[in-house]
Amino acid sequence: VGQVFPPGANWLVKWSLVGGVTTVILVVGVASALYWSPVVTRVNVVKEQPIPFSHQRHVQGNGLDCRYCHTNVETGNFAGIPATETCMTCHSQILTDQEMFQPLHDSWNTGKSIEWVRLNDLPDFVYFDHSIHINKGIGCNHCHSNKTHKIEEMRLTAKAQRFNMSWCLDCHKDPAKFIRPKSEVFNMAWNIRDAKSDTVKQIHNHGFENQKDLGEQLVKDYNVEVEQLTNCSICHR
Ligand code: HEC
Ligand code: HEC
Ligand code: HEC
Ligand code: HEC
Ligand code: HEC
Repeated sequence: VGQVFPPGANWLVKWSLVGGVTTVILVVGVASALYWSPVVTRVNVVKEQPIPFSHQRHVQGNGLDCRYCHTNVETGNFAGIPATETCMTCHSQILTDQEMFQPLHDSWNTGKSIEWVRLNDLPDFVYFDHSIHINKGIGCNHCHSNKTHKIEEMRLTAKAQRFNMSWCLDCHKDPAKFIRPKSEVFNMAWNIRDAKSDTVKQIHNHGFENQKDLGEQLVKDYNVEVEQLTNCSICHR
């Protein structure tokens, strides 16, 4: 029988198999590293804005409520970005001579809105609505802050959550884990574990001591329809 394979072919096949498997592992590894990396997710990555607007200065420093600027958040799909007029309420008097305000004055004079760079942007095939979340007791900071980056402390704004499907579903499967009294939605410091005194417990937690009991009660009080929250058609219409 003639030799079809040259001597050493065994060796070659063995090593190309090993090479193949290693390549697959490498490719999967690199792909998942990329999937979770800030380069792709943009999480915690600040973007240059036309004016260096700071939530830290305006929310933490000046004590402004989110609704002062994001006026549609309780009533519409979109929270909305403030109009030039909103800034001018104060900045027609404060810091008017600073160069960084040039885009604001240009916008005021021409009537053209400032082109803020968008940070949080779901793909078009996902439906989202702010008002329903706000009216059912989901705090802004659940979605716009994370452990290391809090919206009220941001000097320049960054996206704080990946907004992948399993993240949305983690709550939709069991909203009792995260739901809070509606009165606390705009309170960025809300944390049930901080309720040390009875007064604090009464005011901020409806008298409850832990998230499990509070959550179960609020899901009932707010008529959250948990069964339908994982239907594909709720988010993909
Ligand atoms: C004084 C006005 C003002 C107040 C008050 C304010 N914001 Fe903003 N917000 C802005 C402006 C202007 C932008 C666009 C520029 C930027 O992204 O920094 C913005 C952007 C954002 C974005 C990112 C939008 C995007 O592009 O995806 C989020 C999220 C946000 N604000 C949440 C909040 C929350 C939560 C509060 C309350 C704790 C709040 N803001 C209070 C003015 C305000
Ligand atoms: C309720 C009043 C108020 C409103 C509304 C307001 N600001 Fe300010 N802003 C201030 C004050 C006060 C300061 C701090 C002034 C100082 O440092 O002396 C400030 C500071 C700033 C600064 C300087 C940098 C910094 O962070 O200290 C920028 C830029 C700025 N604001 C942009 C804006 C923009 C853009 C808007 C509209 C989306 C806006 N502000 C709306 C009150 C306001
Ligand atoms: C359940 C999560 C969730 C909560 C709660 C939430 N947001 Fe958002 N927010 C999002 C998502 C998701 C987007 C991107 C929406 C899109 O691309 O259509 C977004 C976008 C935004 C934007 C950009 C403009 C817009 O309307 O798309 C602003 C500003 C904003 N949110 C502010 C707020 C404020 C203020 C609150 C609290 C009053 C809040 N959000 C509560 C998830 C949330
Ligand atoms: C922390 C909890 C939480 C997170 C995170 C969350 N949701 Fe929700 N979502 C709720 C609750 C509670 C409701 C209200 C359900 C009800 O009223 O029965 C709701 C309702 C909805 C609805 C129904 C709106 C309507 O008009 O019927 C959509 C769509 C939705 N969420 C999309 C999303 C998407 C997309 C994400 C991720 C980007 C998300 N949600 C993240 C808690 C959450
Ligand atoms: C609570 C909202 C929500 C529900 C319910 C939901 N999805 Fe999604 N889905 C999303 C979001 C948000 C994304 C975008 C993910 C991203 O940008 O990475 C997504 C993305 C997808 C994608 C694109 C691939 C991917 O994973 O990114 C497919 C396919 C999909 N969903 C199918 C489904 C099916 C099938 C169901 C029902 C079993 C379902 N979804 C239920 C929110 C939801």
